[in-house]
Amino acid sequence: MTISRRAFLRTTAGGLATAFVTGSGSPQDTKPEAAPPPRLSVEAAPTNLLPQDTLFLTWQRDPTTTITAQWIGPEKADATVRVIPPTGDEWKTAKVEFRPWPKTDLKVHRAEVTGLAPGTEYLLQIGKGPELFRFRTMPAKATDTFQWVSGGDCGTNAHAIANNILAAKQEPHFALISGDLGYDNGTSAKTALAFVQNYARHMVDPKGRLIPLVTCLGNHEVRGGYNGKRGDATFYLPLFDGLYKDTTYAALDFGDYLSLVLLDTGHVAKIAGEQTDWLEGVLKEREDRPHLFVTNHVPAYPSYRVPEGGPVSGKPGTGEANRQHWCPLFERHGVDVVLEHHDHTFKRTHPLKGGLRDKYGVPYLGDGSWGQLRAPIAAEKRPYLAAVAKAYHMTVHRLEGEARYHVALEESGRVADVYGTHGKRPAKRG
Ligand SMILES: [Fe+2]
Ligand SMILES: [Fe+2]
Repeated sequence: MTISRRAFLRTTAGGLATAFVTGSGSPQDTKPEAAPPPRLSVEAAPTNLLPQDTLFLTWQRDPTTTITAQWIGPEKADATVRVIPPTGDEWKTAKVEFRPWPKTDLKVHRAEVTGLAPGTEYLLQIGKGPELFRFRTMPAKATDTFQWVSGGDCGTNAHAIANNILAAKQEPHFALISGDLGYDNGTSAKTALAFVQNYARHMVDPKGRLIPLVTCLGNHEVRGGYNGKRGDATFYLPLFDGLYKDTTYAALDFGDYLSLVLLDTGHVAKIAGEQTDWLEGVLKEREDRPHLFVTNHVPAYPSYRVPEGGPVSGKPGTGEANRQHWCPLFERHGVDVVLEHHDHTFKRTHPLKGGLRDKYGVPYLGDGSWGQLRAPIAAEKRPYLAAVAKAYHMTVHRLEGEARYHVALEESGRVADVYGTHGKRPAKRG
């Protein structure tokens, strides 16, 4: 079921004013010029990074009971990470593993703590401190309303920072960034580090809680962009291979209520073949999940690039392989929403089946303008597009029982779009 913007405003108590923090009447808070510049660079300070300069949280398995802490910096041998429950007793301690971060003297430090209580706030300490960091586990069930943010194509400029600040104000349970994080191209440690520093600095919510980061691979994480080897994702995989251990695609299950299926649009793994076979199995197992999201970097339904291949270029169109191999599976196996980026616009498609508008179809939200921008093609020129805008943005996903609200917020805090989905699409109609 599709919910109109008006219905959304009606059904959400208090409307958007209470649902989303759009700058608290102080738009200057989110203006690019008000945002602080990125911190340290490799060249400026290769050895004096403190863990808190790059500390971010992520997940390797169920976010209701685990957390993974990571930071980049000089080797901290024999470090431990302690997680302190609200009662203050029974600290959980995890050993920190570390390994080189390529092309630098820095190390990636990683510690995973398991066996946590769902829906609980904790404190986290590295070694003997001095700082204590706050975080929370995901709720056990989707009975409570909660929200998270998504986007893609960030970079390290002032717009990316402004959207970080705006995203953090929404108190999201996590952020999903689907490709083109810092634009390191697999070659610039300085850029990759700046992205992580910005994230560590700004993706902290108003209550002081760190916002865990989930990502998938984009072309700008990989040397050459496409058809690379794992080693070509020079800086990305050493940070995210906790989830992408053997493959550059993965599924992350949040209890039994939410799944994110994270795909690789040909940067390291080919779209057709093994990845598609894996995808079919993964979606079949999850088709009744109350909230089933897929995300990938290159869009099946682009808002800027050309979807059809050209006889002159001899190259396939943008998203052609997605549409051939993946979209039929999305339609058949209960995928609620696809999040895709790479084109640097705001876009929302109609619900689509076989590329055509269909009320039982799958909507595609994107198109990657957290910190990068292009002018989209007019929606009238591409019948699959429902809404487009040239706007830096990220999207807040608010889950309320069976209802999902997807609110695209522009960098200024202005609401660019509100879209709602509800319940499951009828399965196996494809
Ligand atoms: Fe991009
Ligand atoms: Fe891209």
